[in-house]
Amino acid sequence: MSTPNLLMIGGATEEMMSRLTPEFTVHKLSEIADFDSWAAEHGASVEAVMTNGHDGVSPAIMAALPNLKAVSGYGVGYDAVDTDACVARGIKVSHTPDVLNGEVANTTLLLMLAGLRNFRHDEAWARSGDWEAKGGAPLSTSPDGKTIGILGLGRIGQEIADRLAVFNPTIVYHTRTKKDVPYTYYDDLVEMAKACDVLVCITPGGASTNKIVNKDVLEALGPKGMLINVSRGSVVDEDALIATLESGKLGLAGLDVFEGEPHIPDALKASERTVLLPHVGSATHETRAAMGALTVDNLLQWKADGTLKTPVPECAHL
Ligand code: NAP
Ligand code: 8YV
Repeated sequence: MSTPNLLMIGGATEEMMSRLTPEFTVHKLSEIADFDSWAAEHGASVEAVMTNGHDGVSPAIMAALPNLKAVSGYGVGYDAVDTDACVARGIKVSHTPDVLNGEVANTTLLLMLAGLRNFRHDEAWARSGDWEAKGGAPLSTSPDGKTIGILGLGRIGQEIADRLAVFNPTIVYHTRTKKDVPYTYYDDLVEMAKACDVLVCITPGGASTNKIVNKDVLEALGPKGMLINVSRGSVVDEDALIATLESGKLGLAGLDVFEGEPHIPDALKASERTVLLPHVGSATHETRAAMGALTVDNLLQWKADGTLKTPVPECAHL
């Protein structure tokens, strides 16, 4: 049986490896000391790449693999893969849609509740003895009945709207195209932000969304408003976010993603108005197992018949 050469960028679980190793000859990028030398010898034999949402496939790696045919991404976002270049070379690309919708929605609710209900402050108040020394903690804000704007009402955005239902919100949304949903559509993001108590970003990254949450959007959200970003750090202008939080023109921010991951600016770390997570939107045992299984399913299907189970839309015609 042939075992095509696969370059693995990033890690894989034992379960993933146990399904991959009988079918592919796996080369782990993390174990290659000098990639240029390795690629000069082996690059032309590599037909498949497995990668993740953060690392994608760099232009240098793309160039070093002239016979690459398939890229399987662990994660739904694929802004770190140049799909134009892949299409031009006939390289098929897959990702892991849907299996993480619920978990990213859970993370959104976690950030929203932690922010509005002052979780960081109150947990410290209980733990430090301030309750005994100073009395009850200050009041916080209820999540009930708020207007919540969803920037990017796709697979995950819809799941967020569904899971928010327990709070009886008014859901509004902004996307490039109006959807067939029972929520008010805004074609202007600033106008939507003016109407919102909470704005949730859950678009893809990439050029079309780069810094679309800018100073105007953040100021429109206002001193009592909360920004939640579970999409990509590139979607929010981080300098403007820091400035609006520091000036009090924006109330709160709940952030799972950052412009320069894993770096988080000190100003965001120091702020009492932020709740910060290290890009763990989908990071539970259960959801990562499902993502890993789908990542491997794509590779095994490609090996069997040359097709991918869940191709990204740009490459679906290949
Ligand atoms: P999806 O189903 O493709 O939905 C994307 C939504 O964004 C669509 O409603 C789309 O509508 C809208 N959109 C795209 N470009 C836009 C633009 N320029 N302006 C306004 N709206 C735009 O994707 P998904 O599966 O929900 O995933 C969304 C993203 O979440 C991923 O790409 C990834 O970056 C991020 N994510 C983050 C985590 C995490 O761990 N924090 C986990 C999973 C996913 P239109 O096309 O009509 O504009
Ligand atoms: C993962 C994500 O953290 O799916 C995505 O787009 O951002 C997350 O689920 C990441 O892709 C894992 O590589």
